[in-house]
Amino acid sequence: MDFTLSEEQMMIREAARDFTQSELKSGVIERDNLQQHPTEQVKKMAALGFMGVNTAAEYEGAALDSVSYAIIVEELSKIDNSCSVIVSAHNSLAIWGIEKYGTEEQKSKYLPDMASGRTIGAFCLSEPEAGSDATSQRTIAEDKGDYYLLNGTKNWITNGKTAGTYVVIAHTHPEKKHKGINAFIVEAGWEGVSTGEKEDKLGIRSSDTSSVMFQDVKVPKENRIGEDGFGFKLAMKILDGGRIGIAAQALGIAAGAYELALAYSHERVTFGKPINQHQAIAFKLADMAMQIETARMLVYRAAWMKDQGLPYAQAAAMAKCFASEAAMAITVEAVQVHGGYGFVKEYHVERLMRDAKITQIYEGTSEIQRMVISRNIIKGATYLPWEMAGKLVTA
Ligand code: CAA
Repeated sequence: MDFTLSEEQMMIREAARDFTQSELKSGVIERDNLQQHPTEQVKKMAALGFMGVNTAAEYEGAALDSVSYAIIVEELSKIDNSCSVIVSAHNSLAIWGIEKYGTEEQKSKYLPDMASGRTIGAFCLSEPEAGSDATSQRTIAEDKGDYYLLNGTKNWITNGKTAGTYVVIAHTHPEKKHKGINAFIVEAGWEGVSTGEKEDKLGIRSSDTSSVMFQDVKVPKENRIGEDGFGFKLAMKILDGGRIGIAAQALGIAAGAYELALAYSHERVTFGKPINQHQAIAFKLADMAMQIETARMLVYRAAWMKDQGLPYAQAAAMAKCFASEAAMAITVEAVQVHGGYGFVKEYHVERLMRDAKITQIYEGTSEIQRMVISRNIIKGATYLPWEMAGKLVTA
């Protein structure tokens, strides 16, 4: 068992750290206040390969492993969670499904622009009345021979307004329930595609989240991803990887808040000594450190399992559920360590606390993660590496 990072992974971590300090930190409070999209910062992330982290070099991607991807999202999330969710949704939710299950034509048409960051991607699954219960969606793609006629509204779409390419999940045969669902690549510029207002959110405020509407959109047949009826399983598989991204985001939020609290605890003096010399604060720091290390092991393990070709749905659900709950608890405590200063924007921890909340909700709530985990446990299938020695399976 090896818990060390490779030289390359450590270099990637350093590069991501340098980038967040030099390019993201100074404007993050203002962007959050103004809900200003980090358009210039996204271009710079693209130049570093962050918009095509795992994508093959032939499609202009950086061709890195999933652990490196988790490390990049973690580092971005210590400083700017609008940037990290843009990267996570784009890489995991939009690019991955096209690269893994798309045709060669789809890949060569869409991936180079996406992986280079020239086009942002988004994933359209949730609807006004179907979030956790993903099979109850109402968007319809009617088979018209040469094309599908797409009608419906998607909600809470990360990158909704800035995306040029959407992966859209829709029913083609509602009577078949989840077996009648398909996934399509839809271009933002097509007739009948429109977006709602940017949502005014508690956290991740400079990333854009909006509804995306499809009215009589003609989707060419060749833009369906995978076999007919594969859409629901594809959406679930996409989310399995997406959950590693959000787990890494939650880990970064927790670690960022902890680092700020630790630094502050050295500086702030009360009753004649730094506050970390008081047991009440020292034990908070110890609890934070334990939760962060546990979260990090779960996140990196899920990413590593993905790289090994092991089934990782359960590991990803565990990582997301644990890391997001740790992020929420740790950010609340980080504000507490800062006292009154923690409540003002200048000290960054209040923003991390606001950002933490969404990690317990999007890409499957904590309750959904517990459903995924418990269903596996109850049917006796615990997909964990130490249960699978010598039984390597392709996920
Ligand atoms: N991989 C592959 N196949 C899977 C799978 C997975 N991870 N999970 C389920 N399936 C398959 C099942 O095997 C089953 O197939 P068969 O019929 O062949 O047996 C089929 O899919 C249906 O599975 P279930 O019966 O388990 O389906 P369900 O209706 O009970 O739902 C669920 C399961 C886990 C609750 C699922 O609905 C789910 O994950 N819901 C949450 C959705 C979610 O995360 N939404 C967030 C959207 S993205 C977002 O947040 C917006 C953004 O931009 C950030």
